[in-house]
Amino acid sequence: MENIVSVNNIDNNIINSILFISSKSEYISLSENNLKHYIEDKYHNVIIIKDDDEIKGFLIYFLLSPEIDIIFIAVYPNNKGYGRKLLSYLFDDAKANNVNNIKLDLHENNITAKNFYIKNGFKKIAVRKKYYNNQFDAIIMEKLI
Ligand SMILES: CC(C)(COP(=O)(O)OP(=O)(O)OC[C@H]1O[C@@H](n2cnc3c(N)ncnc32)[C@H](O)[C@@H]1OP(=O)(O)O)[C@@H](O)C(=O)NCCC(=O)NCCS
Repeated sequence: MENIVSVNNIDNNIINSILFISSKSEYISLSENNLKHYIEDKYHNVIIIKDDDEIKGFLIYFLLSPEIDIIFIAVYPNNKGYGRKLLSYLFDDAKANNVNNIKLDLHENNITAKNFYIKNGFKKIAVRKKYYNNQFDAIIMEKLI
């Protein structure tokens, strides 16, 4: 049984699971301190997807109506629909908060995530040259709600 919940309190089991999942991706660098900040900060939301009570993925976003910025999304394992379901929760939250615009930036080499976002309705709107390590471009994507 899958379910998505919002994380509003510091819970070490949840923190360790999120850090474990993020450690599987070379494109995510999330420290424990930053994660705790995101959980506690009122403008950031941290949501997790559980399957049979095991945490399989998380999504962190910044919500300041009328805009949302996706900070990080990651799942483990991949290709089981966890990512799509996390985004679907986000789109519902966007509608509930009168958000009309969701943005994110993405490492140019992260093709899996780029395809994932395109399939879920995002479009490339701009490029930040040499944004990562002064070497790799960031692709800015947007979805209008
Ligand atoms: C990007 C990311 C979050 C996508 O999550 P995901 O859960 O793998 O994505 P989904 O499962 O929803 O969709 C991916 C594919 O699985 C397919 N799929 C969905 N449910 C499925 C299921 N039950 N069985 C088999 N395939 C399934 C989807 O159709 C899709 O296939 P397609 O690409 O051929 O259309 C994931 O690849 C990831 O964690 N990447 C590393 C972190 C990262 O780079 N994050 C982005 C930058 S912050």
